[in-house]
Amino acid sequence: MSPSAIEEVVQRPPTVLIFDSGVGGLSICQSILSRCSGVRIIYVADNASFPYGTKSEDYLRRRITFVLSGQCEQYQPDMLVIACNTASTLVLSDLRAVLSIPVVGVVPAIKPAAETTQTGVIGLLATAATVQRHYTDQLVADFATHCDVIRVGSSRLVEMAESYLRGESVSETELAEILADFFCNTMPRRVDKIVLGCTHFPLLKAQLEQCAPHPVEWIDSGNAIAKRVTGLFDSAGLASDSSIELMHKVRFTGSAVANKHFNQRLRLLGFQDFEIEEYIID
Ligand code: DGL
Repeated sequence: MSPSAIEEVVQRPPTVLIFDSGVGGLSICQSILSRCSGVRIIYVADNASFPYGTKSEDYLRRRITFVLSGQCEQYQPDMLVIACNTASTLVLSDLRAVLSIPVVGVVPAIKPAAETTQTGVIGLLATAATVQRHYTDQLVADFATHCDVIRVGSSRLVEMAESYLRGESVSETELAEILADFFCNTMPRRVDKIVLGCTHFPLLKAQLEQCAPHPVEWIDSGNAIAKRVTGLFDSAGLASDSSIELMHKVRFTGSAVANKHFNQRLRLLGFQDFEIEEYIID
């Protein structure tokens, strides 16, 4: 290795590659950035194939493995986070078989919701694909057999979160329609926990809270993932140095989302210095 290559490896901050079909995984970045300063993020949005929630399982398996093998080869991250429930509930074991770094998945937080519900009724709000996955059935069978689980799949909500990050407003009427099945008056007991089983949805948490007819706890996986990432960096001896200046990257496989609203939102989510890139993959 040349002296400059050695220097680059020695000085490189701990690096995590975070992946989603679109901007949803930025909600996971927010949790990671607030907990682990000194970690560099390479965010990859496969928006050329967005949305994942309407794609076949075969297509997604091939596509995700292809995109991530290339990106991991190029950036040599220390860790990969699949910040997408629709992808994680399908391809985690495939990716772990082909990659030599730790692969952290984001899956619906059914377990904490089932452990803390007082009414015994919990909701799962996710993509139509995630609510139907075998993986999700297994989570319910393992942790929530004592609960009624109301499952709502919505692709529209995914699109609304994408538009919101570009600076568009969110229709409260539409949100209330999407949530209607959780708050049906004819149910004997009221829902008290709703799992946000799609990483796009925490981006709209304030609006969802506004539209709920009675208060519920909205549970997402962000903090649990940030804790896991910190733990893995610690156990690998990859201490982060918060004094290092970091340049994060936000990459899109299709046209980049790049306008002033998006840049502002990225700053609000905790990205200080970042560059946005397109690397078109059809
Ligand atoms: N953000 C993704 C998830 O967590 C999916 C959105 C999509 O349908 O592409 O499931």
